[in-house]
Amino acid sequence: MKLLSQLSAALALAGGRLAVAHPVFDELMRPTAPLVRPRAALQQVTNFGSNPSNTKMFIYVPDKLAPNPPIIVAIHYCTGTAQAYYSGSPYARLADQKGFIVIYPESPYSGTCWDVSSRAALTHNGGGDSNSIANMVTYTLEKYNGDASKVFVTGSSSGAMMTNVMAAAYPELFAAGIAYSGVPAGCFYSQSGGTNAWNSSCANGQINSTPQVWAKMVFDMYPEYDGPRPKMQIYHGSADGTLRPSNYNETIKQWCGVFGFDYTRPDTTQANSPQAGYTTYTWGEQQLVGIYAQGVGHTVPIRGSDDMAFFGL
Ligand SMILES: *[C@@H]1O[C@H](CO)[C@@H](O)[C@H](O)[C@H]1NC(C)=O
Ligand SMILES: *[C@@H]1O[C@H](CO)[C@@H](O)[C@H](O)[C@H]1NC(C)=O
Repeated sequence: MKLLSQLSAALALAGGRLAVAHPVFDELMRPTAPLVRPRAALQQVTNFGSNPSNTKMFIYVPDKLAPNPPIIVAIHYCTGTAQAYYSGSPYARLADQKGFIVIYPESPYSGTCWDVSSRAALTHNGGGDSNSIANMVTYTLEKYNGDASKVFVTGSSSGAMMTNVMAAAYPELFAAGIAYSGVPAGCFYSQSGGTNAWNSSCANGQINSTPQVWAKMVFDMYPEYDGPRPKMQIYHGSADGTLRPSNYNETIKQWCGVFGFDYTRPDTTQANSPQAGYTTYTWGEQQLVGIYAQGVGHTVPIRGSDDMAFFGL
């Protein structure tokens, strides 16, 4: 009985689709395995090109790859690994269904936070982790004949900070980004030049800037650039004790500054969307979407099928 209710919970989590990765489901399926095609494996890639910060690259290429596959870069949280984010997030399972490739970078630092604090990381082709991740994208596009107009970035916590940094410093690479519980790009800047430094004033919500100041940080990461920029979706929980909730507003201000929207006037506001207690705000035909999750802590659960919709996959 318990097994059955766990199974139906697993199915519900997977939005009615078969959650092949769920251990309970695996357990039940094993004897009749022919129904389930074995999944491809997560693989490390060591020759992806210049790797200034020694970031590790892992990749998931589904067995049934789309022609000109889209690419999602999925970036782990502090203490996380590529393997942990591969098994703990829905992207590989969705790749099996939709044929895109997932790149899972892995932080080279002890504690595995990302470097979103050094000048190098916050500069286009500046030589930090962000540069290594950008090189993983160009390598993958070339090797798999990927669709350069469908490259996306997402991540949780430190990975969400890096999502904002990638969107800011490498706007030419990405069509869209989704940040789960991060901070604005540049908010973790370290005065003393620290690499993967923790910035408590930012984490504790003490950095309050105007949209113009935040936008300038983005523009300064790649001053020569004046092309299109990725659309952004920002999730944050109101009970986040690690990266204080005001980081939600500051991140929204940043992208509003970049896109030229008035952050005090979203085009739409929807209470209890996409679920009870969450409020969704949009600016400019979903160029920017903010989702503020009332009562949710630092871990806002990843919404895989919503992510697919935002990415247009
Ligand atoms: C933390 O980041 C802010 C920018 O968000 C910067 O002004 C401040 O100097 C940083 N703190 C440290 C200790 O480097
Ligand atoms: C964000 O800004 C809005 C209005 O500008 C304000 O009402 C709200 O309290 C702010 N939220 C946080 C978490 O700071």
